[in-house]
Amino acid sequence: MSEIRLALIGAGAFGRKHLDVMSKKPGFGLAGIADPFDAGRALAERLGVPWNAEPEALLEAVRPDGAIVATPNALHVPHGLACLRHGVPALVEKPIAETPEGSLELAAAESTGVPLLVGHHRRHNPILEAARAALAEGRIGRPVAIHLNWLIRKPDSYFEVPWRGQPGGGPVIINLVHELDALRFVVGEIVAVQAMTAKAVRGLAVEDTAAITLRFESGALGTVIVSDTVEAPWSWEMTSGENSAYPLQAAHNGLIAGTAGSLSLPDLELWRHVERAGAERGWNTALQRERIPFVPDDAYQRQLHHFGRVVRRKEAPRVTARDATRSLAVCLAIHGAARTGREVMLGTDAGTAP
Ligand SMILES: NC(=O)c1ccc[n+]([C@@H]2O[C@H](COP(=O)([O-])OP(=O)(O)OC[C@H]3O[C@@H](n4cnc5c(N)ncnc54)[C@H](O)[C@@H]3O)[C@@H](O)[C@H]2O)c1
Repeated sequence: MSEIRLALIGAGAFGRKHLDVMSKKPGFGLAGIADPFDAGRALAERLGVPWNAEPEALLEAVRPDGAIVATPNALHVPHGLACLRHGVPALVEKPIAETPEGSLELAAAESTGVPLLVGHHRRHNPILEAARAALAEGRIGRPVAIHLNWLIRKPDSYFEVPWRGQPGGGPVIINLVHELDALRFVVGEIVAVQAMTAKAVRGLAVEDTAAITLRFESGALGTVIVSDTVEAPWSWEMTSGENSAYPLQAAHNGLIAGTAGSLSLPDLELWRHVERAGAERGWNTALQRERIPFVPDDAYQRQLHHFGRVVRRKEAPRVTARDATRSLAVCLAIHGAARTGREVMLGTDAGTAP
């Protein structure tokens, strides 16, 4: 079968990560780069592919099989729509948009029949697939209490790119959207949030720290703490080995406690009381630990493989715009809850369950 030619729209830090993933995956080729800045043009020249400052002009000129949109968050909607208008299937980076209106515009465009996949790459990580399967099989009974950490230090230079420190950026929208999407994928829909945020350490327009309470549709409750300004190992990035850019630490980032057992993430340790005939299970009962098996694999490679099949119309997008809208809605609800000091309920129209 012929090579799948993908255009890259936005050749910044993460666009280049996509290029690296593509370069290691046979069957994919780079059709061209759209990025208005010199660095994008220079990269296209170095790689010997067409370049254009304007995404639409590039799409018209090179007519790719698909496109990866890795521009700043505020541009995901116009660039995603441009792809769909040109009949080009798109992998649009997360968060799907900055506003629910924008993401619903993309969701509406899905009905044109040109597929759109949102880059919640963790849905392709075998660790989370195994966790989701374990819960679905009832291995921890009924999930009751969940806790997640996203505690890390971004280097100060990260904020030299202005949009990352302005409204629409910040760790809740840029980073926590991954954790919340992963929780939706593994535990189920989130229906209400409460939150406090703080920005005292970095002093930017966006939060650097947040403490969040979640209510799941199942009735389970969860807490999440997030900070991008602390030296700590307790984040998915530092503990999962998903991205080699982050040094791997022997720690975990999440706990899912249920009526018949508990699971830690990302190490997939399953804790359950030792069964003894006739003995009541309770706090005097010893716990045993086992590890849920999974076959490690690269989530980014798997996402690209899936996108190739989406482009060829062999699979439906695993994360649609409508689905990703819900993960965005949870992030925005966190901001709303922090602003008002009130619990924010998520309506049923805020996207669909995974
Ligand atoms: N999936 C993940 O794990 C992950 C990780 C990091 C970033 N991201 C997402 O990737 C996106 C990009 O993040 P980043 O950190 O690479 O940002 P970045 O600022 O480094 O890169 C954005 C690029 O878009 C280019 N750009 C700006 N306006 C453009 C336009 N009109 N047309 C084409 N290109 C344009 C910029 O020149 C820049 O090269 C964000 O949405 C971010 O949330 C995802």
